Amino acid sequence: MKYGHFDDAAREYVITRPDTPLPWINYLGCEAYFGLISNTAGGYSFYKDARLRRLTRYRYNNAPYDMGGRYIYLRDKADGKFWSPSWMPVRSALDEYSCRHGMGYTIIRSVSHQIEAETRYFVPMGENLEIWELTLTNLRKKKADISVFSAVEFCLWDALDDSTNFQRNFSTGQMEIVDEVIYHKTEYRERRDHFAYFACSEKLAGFDTQREAFLGIYRGWDSPVVVEAGDSTNSVAHGWQPIGSHHLKVHLEAGETRKIVFILGYQENPRDAKFDPPGSQTINKKSVKPIIAKYLQPKNVEAAFVALGDYWNELLGKLQVNTPDEHANRMVNIWNAYQCMITFNMSRSASYFESGIGRGMGYRDSNQDLLGFVHMIPERARERILDLAATQLKNGGAFHQYQPLTKRGNNDVGSGFNDDPAWLVLAVAAYLKETGDWAILEVPVQYENEAGSETPLYEHLQRSLQYTTDRLGPNELPLIGRADWNDCLNLNCFSDTPGQSFQTTTNKDGKVAESVFIAGLFVLAAKEMAEIASHCQDGRETIKMQRAAQQMEKTVWKSGWDGEWFRRAYDDFGHVLGSKENKEGQIFIEPQGICIWAGLGVEDGRAQKALDSVAKYLATPHGIVLLQPAFSQYYLHLGEISSYPPGYKENAGIFLHTNPWIMIAETKIGRGDQAFDYYTRINPSKREEISEIHKCEPYVYPQMIAGKDAPTHGEAKNSWLSGTAAMNFVAITQAILGIQPQYDGLEIKPVIPSSWQGYEAVRYFREVRYEISVSRKGTGNHVSLLVEGTPVPGTLIPLPEKGVKILKVSAQIE
Ligand code: BGC
Ligand code: NOJ
Repeated sequence: MKYGHFDDAAREYVITRPDTPLPWINYLGCEAYFGLISNTAGGYSFYKDARLRRLTRYRYNNAPYDMGGRYIYLRDKADGKFWSPSWMPVRSALDEYSCRHGMGYTIIRSVSHQIEAETRYFVPMGENLEIWELTLTNLRKKKADISVFSAVEFCLWDALDDSTNFQRNFSTGQMEIVDEVIYHKTEYRERRDHFAYFACSEKLAGFDTQREAFLGIYRGWDSPVVVEAGDSTNSVAHGWQPIGSHHLKVHLEAGETRKIVFILGYQENPRDAKFDPPGSQTINKKSVKPIIAKYLQPKNVEAAFVALGDYWNELLGKLQVNTPDEHANRMVNIWNAYQCMITFNMSRSASYFESGIGRGMGYRDSNQDLLGFVHMIPERARERILDLAATQLKNGGAFHQYQPLTKRGNNDVGSGFNDDPAWLVLAVAAYLKETGDWAILEVPVQYENEAGSETPLYEHLQRSLQYTTDRLGPNELPLIGRADWNDCLNLNCFSDTPGQSFQTTTNKDGKVAESVFIAGLFVLAAKEMAEIASHCQDGRETIKMQRAAQQMEKTVWKSGWDGEWFRRAYDDFGHVLGSKENKEGQIFIEPQGICIWAGLGVEDGRAQKALDSVAKYLATPHGIVLLQPAFSQYYLHLGEISSYPPGYKENAGIFLHTNPWIMIAETKIGRGDQAFDYYTRINPSKREEISEIHKCEPYVYPQMIAGKDAPTHGEAKNSWLSGTAAMNFVAITQAILGIQPQYDGLEIKPVIPSSWQGYEAVRYFREVRYEISVSRKGTGNHVSLLVEGTPVPGTLIPLPEKGVKILKVSAQIE
């Protein structure tokens, strides 16, 4: 069953009923000011950091769902009836409803009481504000007098403190209302130099800024007393819960349309110019006034909206494909690329499943996210690489997370996730392949953000890999540390106390438990490093890395191969995991994907064996589960993985991030049909038709779908912020469609389904537009290339001469 449909031409998903199985959300903003917005106008906003600079309040895990948002109430003067044109929070029936989630904007339209209301929400490029542009139309044959109320609830900036420290923060709230603009300035009097503002383009009939004055005590957002009465109280919040609500009275003749603009924004002042007049406690509004004046004019709003569209056209235009599969086209051309941008911006911090409080930017996550994003804005990828590298530890290790606002490693979580460092190498490799910007390797970068500790980025990469070779266990495999990619495989934790963190409680010395996954990852990264070194004419490093990769491969074959698949790990007792010898957890997906991606067993049939085992034991119609058999109880020596009931999350859930590794692996052994089949099983667009089972948004990947051991097999959770976005983008565009940026040019190496006659693509690569046409002549994967009509040996298109803007490439596969 569906709750809407795709509008590919507009690059929108159109939700046609408000009561989706879960709130289906979108993101506003893609630079510094961000918002989450649901299909019923729920959500919140923040500046850069969802924990430290939260503008508006949101109630996670609330009943009913989705409390707190960008609310508008309409009230008909004639009969006193009121409603929410976004359905929530009033939830009275609407005669028509649609929500269009697009690229960086959301438009919610409805009709009720013969009043059409359409609100367009977006963040203009380059600004720290959001616009709600409300268009009201009177569909009646007679005039209408409508009261419009806006409503947001301010968060007192630090979202964690805001939701816990009431003894203080019920006394700190402060507002200013000047020239009909509502300013939220809690803590501005002391150490903050920033404030929020909420303005409206119309003359106000009143306002409210104290929540209980607006709602009435013991009432909720579904029935504010002010809206019910039709009159604001002009309340000024002192402490308690500051809100912003404008009231305007709109008279509409029959058929008349009116546009009303609200802007909610964030502004910082220089520390020495916070107050105006100096010495007062009044916000200096000199810098913000022109911004407010600009965006209260509908023509500037329209121009900003057009500019946002141009921006996304350009980003998405970097790669457009036309394949025989509409679901693949839609994801590659629109939604998967869009989700990659969101994960790049948010890492795992703020979604409807991540509170924005718990996690900053993950080191492993951000490096991987880059793989799906680098082709869109390489300059921002460059900046991200340098930020990440600057948090690296001197021993090559990594802080597991860093705060986006401070760009500093997060001490609460610390380091010791032994796969983390290697991902930096893969991110830098992807950046170099995309851009050819070798100069980045020479940039001096600090360790642990410590002045004076700088070395060239190149050395950061060397230390990253050294980190692994310095930490080998009894079988010469990499020690796992707190965890590897699988944060829940905690072999050194042994936690028996409720509430302890599985990740940071480390009570074993960590000298025994080893990871085959890290071994595979190391081979992949060391091979990249060898190529990077060879480009830099560093012969010693090239040979060192080639040898290190070979050595690690040997070790994997010796201790990491189980006969029919790759093993997973060795625990603290030296016992194997992910082997026929195990009763539970016999086979895991991760090492099959990563080892084969790294090239292991591709030539000698062992890769195929491992992938056949994946198909036999792990694949389901809803995707490939993480392991089998699921752990039936909690095992002290395995940690969080066994804390989940069977079929959920890392305990045999379909953890989507790992599925594209298998797709990539399948293409390594030339099985395009199998790779694409796996791709399709988890493609959200394809799963749209089972939305009542899938439950999450049909336009983006979730982190997890319940596995076959779960009672709710097929049900998705944790949408939006997952490495799944970047990895699937890589799998479909680079492995299956075979459009692969390489150090010396673009390579075309498709491994597509045997039934496809071919596909077309446009790919901008190093400022050249490649017009690619692939056609199938036989059932295999052998490629013959013609570049501008001239045959080229192999699969790599040599870089064209300077000045060339367009290259026509045709590839025949047989
Ligand atoms: C989740 C993991 C996640 C980890 C982060 C765990 O509870 O299951 O998916 O990576 O928390 O701390
Ligand atoms: C989610 C985390 O963000 C990611 O880093 C990790 O690899 C997976 N969970 C698997 O545990």
